[in-house]
Amino acid sequence: MCGIIGILGRGPVAEQLVDSLKRLEYRGYDSAGVATLEDGELVRRRAEGKLKNLEAVLKRQPLAGHVGIGHTRWATHGKPNEANAHPHAASGVAVVHNGIIENFRELRDELEGGGATFASETDTEVVAHLVNSFLVKGLSPQDAVKAALPRLRGAFALAFVFKGYDDLMIGARKGSPLAIGYGDGEMYLGSDAIALAPLTDDISYLDDGDWVVLTHTTAEVRDAKGDVVKRDVMKSGASSFVVDKANYRHFMAKEIHEQPEVVGHTLARYLDMASERIALPMKLPFDFKDVQHLSITACGTANYAGYVAKYWFEQFARLPVEIDIASEFRYREAPLRSGDLAIFISQSGETADTLAALRYAKEQGLHTLSVVNVPTSTIARESEVVMPTLAGPEIGVASTKAFTCQLTALAALAIAAGRARGTLTDADEAKLVHGLIELPRLMAAALTHEPQIERLARDISKAQDVLYLGRGTSYPLALEGALKLKEISYIHAEGYAAGELKHGPIALIDEKMPVVVIAPYDRVFEKTVSNMQEVAARGGRIILMTDAKGAEEATVDSMVTIMMPDMPAAFTPMVYAIPVQLLAYHTAVVMGTDVDQPRNLAKSVTVE
Ligand code: F6R
Repeated sequence: MCGIIGILGRGPVAEQLVDSLKRLEYRGYDSAGVATLEDGELVRRRAEGKLKNLEAVLKRQPLAGHVGIGHTRWATHGKPNEANAHPHAASGVAVVHNGIIENFRELRDELEGGGATFASETDTEVVAHLVNSFLVKGLSPQDAVKAALPRLRGAFALAFVFKGYDDLMIGARKGSPLAIGYGDGEMYLGSDAIALAPLTDDISYLDDGDWVVLTHTTAEVRDAKGDVVKRDVMKSGASSFVVDKANYRHFMAKEIHEQPEVVGHTLARYLDMASERIALPMKLPFDFKDVQHLSITACGTANYAGYVAKYWFEQFARLPVEIDIASEFRYREAPLRSGDLAIFISQSGETADTLAALRYAKEQGLHTLSVVNVPTSTIARESEVVMPTLAGPEIGVASTKAFTCQLTALAALAIAAGRARGTLTDADEAKLVHGLIELPRLMAAALTHEPQIERLARDISKAQDVLYLGRGTSYPLALEGALKLKEISYIHAEGYAAGELKHGPIALIDEKMPVVVIAPYDRVFEKTVSNMQEVAARGGRIILMTDAKGAEEATVDSMVTIMMPDMPAAFTPMVYAIPVQLLAYHTAVVMGTDVDQPRNLAKSVTVE
């Protein structure tokens, strides 16, 4: 979603601001802007669309200020045009904002009543006018921000610069994350460590409710009560990460191909490869034996990872699992039992709905465990137990390697649960762990089918609708396949449990509709073949993802087979995820869409 950068620099900062914003492009945005202090005056440059448009504006009208803020905006209130792009300004202050100001309408009416003139449709502009209304009363910038913050309802990260103040920047956080960066005679604000990566490795995160007053050499943080507090400075490690695509055309392609390696890293974190045992590196503050119900909550692709894990926890640990979409979980008033376990899955660790669900579960007295890819994220910091996935930064908006690494961590946890509950023997554990250890090799084998999938994608790109079918753990993967295709190629796709076909979606099938069937040869394979026959009988074109045995047994007309390696049934979703992702990727490439930053989507969804 939106990205924030602020620099109190020693030289001109406009170029650095844009450079940092480029690192935030992966979050998704539709306009961008910067403001710097030019001879004491606040001057802005903004542009609709991609950063290259902003760069072109800056080339025509350069900025030389040493203090500045920058922003990539993902539209919530008002269209993605220049007038709505951040920074927003009133006479004495400019501000950039992530999140949503829920009471902006009433504040806007009040401020307009007091004579303020608004230039945009955004919720953010009320923040600029509100702070300005205190400045014109003679308050200092610090006091003006202090007076304004309690008036704002909603979620926000804010960075302010002020007319006439070339040694001052103020940041505030409620809900949306904000980090302080410490430089040599310079200070920075950023919405994440990646934004700050080109500038510094030394960062600290504001806690919820904190606000900070920065000069070139100092950072004074206050909490919501107004007390001065210390927030630990840590090494972000993000500067060692190079945002480049290597030899790939898109980040998504690079990330798909990284999977054998990063799944290997995640396995190494949770397994003892030598003894073929689960070896969780953290102590669990609960005993799986005492857990009666497990609740898993997440959004989008992370939710589908949770859906696969539901099958594992139920099968390996005989533990009943409820899987929820985060935005539904806390409003549906599910009966929850204090002492049970709630698992939250999130690549970014900042998804607003998942974070709200985590807080709700904590209030209900549940133990909380999160599977996150960003270990410094809010969800990680607020969970009782954290299982980091070691996927490395995921830049493509469509989640790929984070998904398979989430599955890896969850598989290890489900086996650990089975051991603790006595439902898996030593031998079962060794067999399952052996299966996990094989995954990187099998995923690498799955990647070799890319040329065939690329050819198939040309065909899929002509379709208007695509159906994905699967049973068992291949059912959530079918949902994931449909999500992946629609989000990056904009082709309508739906995922169904194969057995549900005849309860409705079969009505859609004709010779124009490709049906992707995910069916490793397992105990439900025969049933899936029957569903394929139903498709074939109606002229549907089938793309079957299966193994050698499955290909031999499936005798259905008009079928293309993508041959996956033989492997244990339990962990097929990790390997079959690869052709599913590649099919979506190559279809999107044929369609010519913006694969890494598909329209309307954001990487880190920090609004509800
Ligand atoms: C789809 C995708 C999204 C995310 C969802 C949750 O490819 O990436 O559906 O999975 O927005 O995001 P996180 O995992 O950051 O909570």
